[in-house]
Amino acid sequence: MRYFCIEKEYDIDALQLMEKEVPRPGHGQVLVRMRAASLNYRDLLAIGGSYSRNLPLPLIPLSDGAGEVVEIGEGVTRWQQGDRVAGTFFQDWDGGEITDEVPKSALGGAIDGVLAEYVLFRERGLVALPAHLSFEEGATLPCAALTAWHALQSGNLACGQAVLTLGTGGVSLFALQFARTAGARVIATTGSEAKAEKLRLLGAGEVINYKTEPNWETAVWKLTGRRGVDLVVEVGGAGTLGKSLKAVRTGGHISLIGVLSGSTGEVNPLPAVMKSARIQGIYVGSREMCETMIRAIEMHGIRPVIDHVFPFSEAKAAYRYLQSAAHFGKVVIAIQ
Ligand SMILES: NC(=O)c1ccc[n+]([C@@H]2O[C@H](COP(=O)([O-])OP(=O)(O)OC[C@H]3O[C@@H](n4cnc5c(N)ncnc54)[C@H](OP(=O)(O)O)[C@@H]3O)[C@@H](O)[C@H]2O)c1
Repeated sequence: MRYFCIEKEYDIDALQLMEKEVPRPGHGQVLVRMRAASLNYRDLLAIGGSYSRNLPLPLIPLSDGAGEVVEIGEGVTRWQQGDRVAGTFFQDWDGGEITDEVPKSALGGAIDGVLAEYVLFRERGLVALPAHLSFEEGATLPCAALTAWHALQSGNLACGQAVLTLGTGGVSLFALQFARTAGARVIATTGSEAKAEKLRLLGAGEVINYKTEPNWETAVWKLTGRRGVDLVVEVGGAGTLGKSLKAVRTGGHISLIGVLSGSTGEVNPLPAVMKSARIQGIYVGSREMCETMIRAIEMHGIRPVIDHVFPFSEAKAAYRYLQSAAHFGKVVIAIQ
């Protein structure tokens, strides 16, 4: 089998294509022939060496992948040959609250990921793909979609409420799609006029260009009749959190997810206090959350927004494309 590997050096150019024997599933394991994988911003951090100091090198990268079950190990009852599945981001988070142990089972981080022709998963570390989705579409669900889903669930989003999304990456577009399905109003930001039009077509009620309108939090404030949004899907981090705190309503909710604008900087906590805003850190989600999300995706016929599918041999080009931030939605690698 062929697989890609971050061997010693943290650099896209140093990503190695390697070969080894196809592994056999042990007790409680499932062997999956991977058909597609998708990239997340986290994978750029990982290959650039800034995700974690403790990445166990050599490492097979990427957390998000989908494929077909080809062999099951002893004791496996949940799956059979031919099942269409996706791996869960955390192989060891069935449900309930996150614990210290959960991050130790993160694919493409603490343990080997999915940029390979065959991957062994734990029996409970798989979900069934929605019937209407291709492998390429299914490969976008484990991290980006689930993080967006968890972000809205944690804020108890209700019909008629207003949600703010930032930029047009994978998490933000899933948040837009889920929020629209829930009957919420979406105000979205982007740094690109071409992407603004696509956001409107996807259901954003209002779009603000954060480059031409750097005080976008004031625009959000005005658009909501000086009330603020009920929920912010905060993927920007240090550079946007202060503005998100101004854009959220009194008693509103901020789901804290990402670091697109950096992870260090000064943020004035006072607006959070004065507004009694809830700030909730989100770390992807559990398998049970993923299963609930998949039921909703099936029920509403939601289709992930894929910008581009690269062949397996062009994995480095896929990384560079994500790095360029030219994408709208997800960047996928087909594993033929
Ligand atoms: N906590 C978790 O569990 C979790 C899970 C998934 C992702 N994340 C984090 O969430 C963030 C988003 O991840 P992703 O995979 O969705 O990213 P992505 O697909 O790479 O999104 C990149 C897009 O974000 C927008 N962007 C970049 N800088 C921005 C800024 N300063 N302000 C507003 N928008 C900006 C740009 O869109 P425009 O061109 O439209 O401006 C860019 O194309 C990352 O920081 C990632 O690490 C965290």
